[in-house]
Amino acid sequence: MDIRPATADDAIGMSVVLRSLTAAGLRTRPDSPEFALQNYIAPADGILCSVAESEAGAILGLQSLKRASPGNPYGVTPGWGIIGTHISPDAARQGIGKALFVATLDAVRDAGLTDIDATIGADNAQGLAYYEAMGFRTYRRMEGAVCKRFTLSGASHERSVSQES
Ligand SMILES: CC(C)(COP(=O)(O)OP(=O)(O)OC[C@H]1O[C@@H](n2cnc3c(N)ncnc32)[C@H](O)[C@@H]1OP(=O)(O)O)[C@@H](O)C(=O)NCCC(=O)NCCS
Repeated sequence: MDIRPATADDAIGMSVVLRSLTAAGLRTRPDSPEFALQNYIAPADGILCSVAESEAGAILGLQSLKRASPGNPYGVTPGWGIIGTHISPDAARQGIGKALFVATLDAVRDAGLTDIDATIGADNAQGLAYYEAMGFRTYRRMEGAVCKRFTLSGASHERSVSQES
């Protein structure tokens, strides 16, 4: 398996992953190649989108990192990172998400971010468990969603325990 930055040529393979998640009942958002290109590969506020590719050349999963801009629809503090992870159900629990996060963390450091937000469906047990395992901690809740925060060690401020719930 190879972890590498996504390119426009990956849009179809990424869409295959997203569609497999939709078919498994694990996704409700769009899953077309156009959506993959606009929202993950080349969004205006994108920092890095990595893909995991099998030896046979199939895309197994992706992880996107964006910078929260003022007025972002998630209400994330501007300047924080916003992460999203999407692994094919056939390839889940094989360490792909963990491997993708190693690449993302490098990009987080390079971009000078101090915090990352992951907004996860409140009923998404595997998503909640994954981000918890990666070191994210719950810092706020919204209707139907849990927001977890990862603070880089060495960042200029301390994690606020009082904000955790
Ligand atoms: C959640 C998701 C990103 C995890 O990716 P993954 O490649 O399967 O995760 P990994 O194999 O790297 O697992 C890393 C750790 O996360 C935790 N974890 C991952 N999946 C888990 C599950 N189904 N149940 C419990 N813990 C889980 C475990 O601690 C795991 O370590 P371990 O296998 O050594 O116990 C993937 O299942 C997925 O894309 N799900 C559908 C979309 C989604 O929910 N995205 C995230 C929220 S938007």
